[in-house]
Amino acid sequence: MMFEKFRKAYAPDTHWPQWYNDRETCIGDKCRFCFETCPTGTIKWSSKTGMPYVSGVGGFDKACINCYNCIAVCPTHSISMSGGYKVLGGRYKTVKESILRLPMPFTDRNAPYSEIEKDLTEVERVIYRRRSNRIFKDTAVSEALLHRIMEAGRYAPTAGNNMPFTFVAITDTALIREIEVRSMKVLRWLKNLYLNPNFIKKILATLMSYFMIRQMDQRPFFPLDKADRRNDNLFYGAPALILILMDKRGISDPNLDAGICAQNIVLAAHALGLGTCYNGYAATAFGYLPGLRKRFGIAYPWKVVTTIAVGYAKVKTDHAVPREDVPVRWFK
Ligand SMILES: Cc1cc2nc3c(=O)[nH]c(=O)nc-3n(C[C@H](O)[C@H](O)[C@H](O)COP(=O)(O)O)c2cc1C
Repeated sequence: MMFEKFRKAYAPDTHWPQWYNDRETCIGDKCRFCFETCPTGTIKWSSKTGMPYVSGVGGFDKACINCYNCIAVCPTHSISMSGGYKVLGGRYKTVKESILRLPMPFTDRNAPYSEIEKDLTEVERVIYRRRSNRIFKDTAVSEALLHRIMEAGRYAPTAGNNMPFTFVAITDTALIREIEVRSMKVLRWLKNLYLNPNFIKKILATLMSYFMIRQMDQRPFFPLDKADRRNDNLFYGAPALILILMDKRGISDPNLDAGICAQNIVLAAHALGLGTCYNGYAATAFGYLPGLRKRFGIAYPWKVVTTIAVGYAKVKTDHAVPREDVPVRWFK
């Protein structure tokens, strides 16, 4: 039991949700949003039927990350999913029971979201309707607006009001693309080590998994494999990128402080009509790319803790989708 977490560094025993598209209501070629915005390329397009479809194990080709992006972008509410993505064995076993339900912050847990929405405050509306956006317009985001959302980050609570973060804001799209391409080179190497193991690679992956547990998590590699086939695979063509840098010497847990700060930025952006998408892959890649870090003047004690792509969403994702239940233990 003690060594459970080191048990298996490679392909897990996994259970996938069921994906369903109502062909009666789907408008197919007139839209294609689910296909174009699927972050993992799980949703494919049939030129024969002019409709989206999924394939592979359990219909999911081992790539779906349960983000419900397809449900959010569908203008005709044709897509639904049941069941959840579960890792049944191996080191990253998912133990939680999966029950999906819509936001129900009020006492009547059975009321449909449309009925309670009118009672929500502006803040709650932003929280429940924000989605990660993965398809951006070419329209640039003004410096003033970027400054405004970073201000929301600056006003985040932090342990000891220590504020262990700083930002890098990039609006040079060639530079954003360069980060994407250079990051993908590293990520591709890690992914291939894991997904295409020969004897040597398997030993290496297992050894690395002892010392770099989070970097060798099995879950992100399958989506990354699909993302690798896209051209705009990390930042989805966003015209602006914010790097959140964390001061490793922060009081208590600077990672948590930086995360709270990042979410303030994301929520403010949504409230101001902007679309955002976190990218953790790129943050990981920065750790392996000293040349890129130097380019942005990132040196100890600073670390890229996450990246946020910012722009104007090409499709409206403003839509509450189900989330897994989170058990609450009450002590009254
Ligand atoms: C720290 C962090 C890292 C993330 N990294 C990625 C990423 O690399 N690529 C991506 O497409 N989405 C990324 N996401 C977005 C999540 O996939 C998304 O938040 C989740 O699926 C829920 O969907 P929603 O944001 O649309 O509600 C990340 C989110 C967080 C909080």
